[in-house]
Amino acid sequence: MRSKVRRREFRFFDRQPPVPDAREELVAGLTAPAKAVSPKYFYDEAGSQLFEAITKLPEYYLTRTETGILEDNRDDIAQWVEPDACLVEYGSGSSAKTRILLETCRPAAYVPVDISRGQLLSSAREIYEDFGDLAVYPTCADYSRSFELPSIATGLRKVGFFPGSTIGNIEPAEVPDFLRGVGRVIGPGGRFIVGVDTKKAESMLNAAYNDAAGVTRAFNLNILRHINAIAGADFDMTKFEHEAHYNGERGRVEMYLTSAERQTVRVNGAFIEFGRGERIHTEHSYKYDADGFAILAEQAGLRWLEARRDESCHFMVVLLENAGD
Ligand code: AVI
Repeated sequence: MRSKVRRREFRFFDRQPPVPDAREELVAGLTAPAKAVSPKYFYDEAGSQLFEAITKLPEYYLTRTETGILEDNRDDIAQWVEPDACLVEYGSGSSAKTRILLETCRPAAYVPVDISRGQLLSSAREIYEDFGDLAVYPTCADYSRSFELPSIATGLRKVGFFPGSTIGNIEPAEVPDFLRGVGRVIGPGGRFIVGVDTKKAESMLNAAYNDAAGVTRAFNLNILRHINAIAGADFDMTKFEHEAHYNGERGRVEMYLTSAERQTVRVNGAFIEFGRGERIHTEHSYKYDADGFAILAEQAGLRWLEARRDESCHFMVVLLENAGD
C-alpha cells in the first residue's frame, strides 16, 4: 500500500492515553510491604531539568557515550534507517539524539511518541522547523503499551528509536512484553534501534548515580516535592537520604530514599509510618551484556542484527528486527 505521507507536513495525533490516578497509585506504592514509587514521578518540571543536568555530569557517562556512538557511526546508522522509512521515537522528550539520526538519514516521516503533550508538541515543532523535507506526526500515547501509529504512515517501513537506556528502567521480566508491543507497532520487517547500558566496573556505576555535585541526590529527593504537590503529601525532604548502589547479583543500580528517622507522613489523607532506615524504592537501572539482552529480544520475536559500541564498551546501540511475518 502506498503511504499518504506528504513532505513537509505537521499533524498532531492524540491517542488520549489513560492517565492513572496519581494519588491512588502513590498511596498504594507507599503502603506496600516494600515501599516504592514509580520513577515516572521524577519528571515534573524541576525533575526534568535535574535529569538534563545529570546527563551533563562527568560521572554520568551514559548520555555522552551514546551520543558519541551515534556520531561516530553515522554512516552505518544511515543504513539502518532506510530512505523513506518512518522513524518512530519512543519517549521523545527533547528529541536531542534524534537530531543526529535526522542529520544522517532521510526518513519520510518522523513520529515522536510521548505521554506528555506539552513537551512532545514543542520539540516536534522544533524538528519540523529545522528539517526541511520531513513530515512530522507527534503522537501523544503511552509508549509502554502498544499504541496505534498514525495510519498515514501505513506502507512505510517503520524504524523505532528508543535511546537513553530507558529500557534499563523496565524490569527484565517485563522487557519481552514491552518489545512485543514494539513489534506490533513496527510490524514485520520493522526495525528497532535501542540504547542499552552495559555491565561494567561497580565503581564506575556507583559514581554515575552518586555524583560529587549532588545532582542525582537532588533529582531523587525532588520526587518527594513532586508527590507533595500532586498528592496532598507532607514529606520533609530533609528527613530522607539519597541511596544508590550497584547490585551485581541482579545486574542493576538500585536507587532509594532512606528515612533518616522514625516519622509519619501524610499522603492523600493516609498516614504512612516510616522506621529509621526504612527505604522507598524509586528506580532500578538494569545493565546488560549483549547475550542477556539478545535473549530478551528473541523472546519477543525481535532478532539482534548488529550493534555499535564505544571503544571501552561502556554502552551499546543495538539494531533489532521484527522477525515475524
Ligand atoms: C532515564 N534513565 C535511563 C536514567 C538511568 O540512568 O536509569 C535515570 C537516572 N536515574 C538516576 N540518574 C539517571
